[in-house]
Amino acid sequence: MFPSLRLSRLRRTSQLRSLVQETQLQPSNFIYPIFVSETIEDNQAIEALPGQDSIAERNLDHHIKKLYALGIKAVLLFGVSANKDAYASDSLKTDGLLSRIIKTTKSSVPEMLVVADNCFCEYTNHGHCGVLDKQGYVDNDASIKILAQQAIICAQAGCDIVAPSAMLDGQVQAIRKGLDAHGFMHIPIMSYSVKFASSFYGPFRHAANSAVNINNLLRDRQTYQMAIGNQREALQEAHLDEQEGADILMVKPAGTSLDIIAKLRAVSNLPLAAYQVSGEYSAIKYAALAGVLDEDHAIIESLMAIKRAGASIIITYFTPQIISLLRNQIA
Ligand code: PBG
Repeated sequence: MFPSLRLSRLRRTSQLRSLVQETQLQPSNFIYPIFVSETIEDNQAIEALPGQDSIAERNLDHHIKKLYALGIKAVLLFGVSANKDAYASDSLKTDGLLSRIIKTTKSSVPEMLVVADNCFCEYTNHGHCGVLDKQGYVDNDASIKILAQQAIICAQAGCDIVAPSAMLDGQVQAIRKGLDAHGFMHIPIMSYSVKFASSFYGPFRHAANSAVNINNLLRDRQTYQMAIGNQREALQEAHLDEQEGADILMVKPAGTSLDIIAKLRAVSNLPLAAYQVSGEYSAIKYAALAGVLDEDHAIIESLMAIKRAGASIIITYFTPQIISLLRNQIA
């Protein structure tokens, strides 16, 4: 056969390899999720997420300044609440934890992009992502009403993006209407459009103390989060969110949903985000700690694969590490 096809010609030197590299990671691609606790006196290591701390609320201002100095430009905030009830009422108060952490972050560094996780499971004593009906199921329509209220509280506190993560039907439309009616038509919605009922959220639930209460009849979130095996349904979820007015579509977990990301990239023109969730992070971290993986390269590979699949925005606990790897030209 002539000419002889030798794709390895372009792999021979690092200069050639970087000349033909199709996917590049950039610091602006990343959003860093952080946990803020209202009870602890000082930052506390999260055992389930090696290398991550629960930030004491009183240290938040200092912490945000430190992150910004490291080159982190966007954060996703999670409150670790000590005031939980059946209705997540603390999250609906202007002086509640959710509102306070947004205000503190914005006043600490106004240029820091603040994404608010719009959900109830961090603030309910039963651990579900909404209020419950008499049978113990999440009451979808009652829940989206208060989810819209929560989004308004977040916008009033100064967040730049709201990110509804409850996987309730109609949540994007309800939030869009609520925000618009309160003068927040300029606040974008990044919807957790495709959120699978995944075991990879395990470490997060330790960190946010949001595991579904074992006394509850419905111990998992399979009645509202998606079944792992369903690809067409995932595309439908995203399509509906787009019709309801989502500005950015998000898929999670990222690493186990690369097929969904690639398909969505082909059918939607919205920006696509993917969340490399807690279990994906801890799997790499613990393997690296055991000495069986090269941590830096495993991080780069996992993130590159997500971007190659089609997500331009990546939410990851590796944000500080990848930004430093990029700065040192290792990634
Ligand atoms: C809130 C929420 C969860 C995560 C992000 N937002 C928890 C859940 O659905 O149980 C998980 C993120 C992670 O595992 O890193 N609903």
